[in-house]
Amino acid sequence: MTETLKNRGTVRVYDDRPVDDALLRELFEAAFQASNTGNMQLYSVVVTRSREGREALAPAHFNQPQVLSAAVVLTFCADVSRYSQWCRQRQACPGFDNVQSLVYACIDTIIAAQTLCVAAEAKGLGICYLGTTTYNVGQIIDCLQLPPLVVPLTTITLGWPKEAPSVSERLPLEAIVHEEYYHPYSAADIDRLHEAKENLPANRHYVDINHKDNLAQVFCDLRYTKKDNEHFSTVFIDALRRQGFLK
Ligand SMILES: Cc1cc2nc3c(=O)[nH]c(=O)nc-3n(C[C@H](O)[C@H](O)[C@H](O)COP(=O)(O)O)c2cc1C
Repeated sequence: MTETLKNRGTVRVYDDRPVDDALLRELFEAAFQASNTGNMQLYSVVVTRSREGREALAPAHFNQPQVLSAAVVLTFCADVSRYSQWCRQRQACPGFDNVQSLVYACIDTIIAAQTLCVAAEAKGLGICYLGTTTYNVGQIIDCLQLPPLVVPLTTITLGWPKEAPSVSERLPLEAIVHEEYYHPYSAADIDRLHEAKENLPANRHYVDINHKDNLAQVFCDLRYTKKDNEHFSTVFIDALRRQGFLK
């Protein structure tokens, strides 16, 4: 199992084979058996298989081609609505329209999504997360008709890989793991821990074609700019208000 996990990679190009319902059900059963807050399962997943459905979602994902080439698009939503409804129907008074409950739901949702990905990859399927879900969250809420107290968090495209994924680099373990307490990084630590990543030919090429001095500048100046991060923060906070998680 660990070898499979260590050799995985995101798959963005799929062949035309469908993902059959029985297999998708099996993946869901595996994903939903994952740990979750108080066994409340504060999530829902919207399955988009139809061409029309995927075409409707595509603009919200900046027309990333995976949305149309994947057999299935799964939108994982934090959902405290269903649980609240159950409570109300049982003469219990739900109090989930707040940030703490949203955090429970976000954690549950992402654990379920990632468990589904692990299960899917173990079956030979390919997956790609779409971070655009929180960028264009309002469009997705409209498109999928999400009610109050439900907010989309992430999307997974799922299909049979057209080719084997490449395995991308990771930071060394010592960059991430702290023994007993958090050890601050010296400037020399930062240099040493990022050296291999910065010197990879693919990353050097990426810096060159973007006319930047180094990889960090590509990420700060082009890929995840402060301006975009702040804009999409506002969009997401607005969506949380609209969906009733924030006052
Ligand atoms: C939350 C999240 C959002 C992502 N969004 C996108 C995306 O919008 N488009 C895309 O092509 N890949 C996306 N990815 C995939 C990452 O780019 C990929 O996981 C990362 O570069 C590491 O590559 P690997 O998964 O092949 O190891 C996303 C991954 C995560 C976890």
